[in-house]
Amino acid sequence: MDFSKLNGKIFFENKFIDSKKAKIHVLNHSLHFSSSVFDGIRVYNKKTLFLGEHLDRLYLSAKLMKLTINLKKRKLISTINKLIKLNKIKDGYIRPIIFRSSHSMSPETSNCKSIIAIAAWKWGTLFNVEKGITLMLSRYPRLNKSIFPIHAKSSGSYQVAVVSRVEARKKKFDDCLMLDIKGNVAESTACNIFWIKNSIIYTPKEHSILQGITRKAVIEICKRNRIKVNIGNFKLKTILNADHVFVTGTAAEIQTVRKIKNKNYKTNSKIINLIKDSYNEIKTKSPVSTSKI
Ligand SMILES: Cc1ncc(COP(=O)(O)O)c(C=O)c1O
Repeated sequence: MDFSKLNGKIFFENKFIDSKKAKIHVLNHSLHFSSSVFDGIRVYNKKTLFLGEHLDRLYLSAKLMKLTINLKKRKLISTINKLIKLNKIKDGYIRPIIFRSSHSMSPETSNCKSIIAIAAWKWGTLFNVEKGITLMLSRYPRLNKSIFPIHAKSSGSYQVAVVSRVEARKKKFDDCLMLDIKGNVAESTACNIFWIKNSIIYTPKEHSILQGITRKAVIEICKRNRIKVNIGNFKLKTILNADHVFVTGTAAEIQTVRKIKNKNYKTNSKIINLIKDSYNEIKTKSPVSTSKI
């Protein structure tokens, strides 16, 4: 899909305008220096899922990347809800982005304005791979928060993800598994990762991953169902020895992994099915938000 041809309205510089008119100049700062932050929110049956949590992360991302969001959270929420109505979204996706204006062509940004845009579109399943996805090993590591503001969902942090995904597709894999700089399992290019060994779930600590909102929901689901979750630093060999693997993300939801490198996994897991069912239940019930809004 060519997103520049998206129909409907986009919220751009404090107005709802026709999507096709929501344009920026080629000398926009963020295009050249990746100085933007964004988030992605799912809409199920006309309602957002975990909106408060996503906006908390958007403000955190902006703070870490020294961008200002010139709207209060409450205004952002009402704007997003209005956009869903204007675009008649039943099941879809919301993409708020904060980026810098064209007032600099260097890392010096004191003259740049901070711009907000919010787009919304109808969207179904991301991978649509019933039988599970395949992951290659990325040649580049995920950085950690002492080297890079990894907890910001910033455009800059996706450069390695984009390169890794291109390489994965060339080699006929769906995506890449990324390790941290010490060789521990981190995440895939746009999802957090979990694996199961002897009915215990494992997932990496937060130092080198995006703090996923779906990851948090999955950990809660496991707690509620008395499934043990081990959060720690784990070498590649631990995931290669796992019984089952899955990835989580707002867009991907809960996606089974059937292969990492040349290791194949069984895809029929009772635990993954239970987590998928519980997540589907959350989607339909709109859970109580844990956001501080
Ligand atoms: C690098 C990365 N990790 C993990 C995730 C999953 O996060 P969430 O569950 O909040 O969508 C995403 C998606 O936003 C991502 O881009």
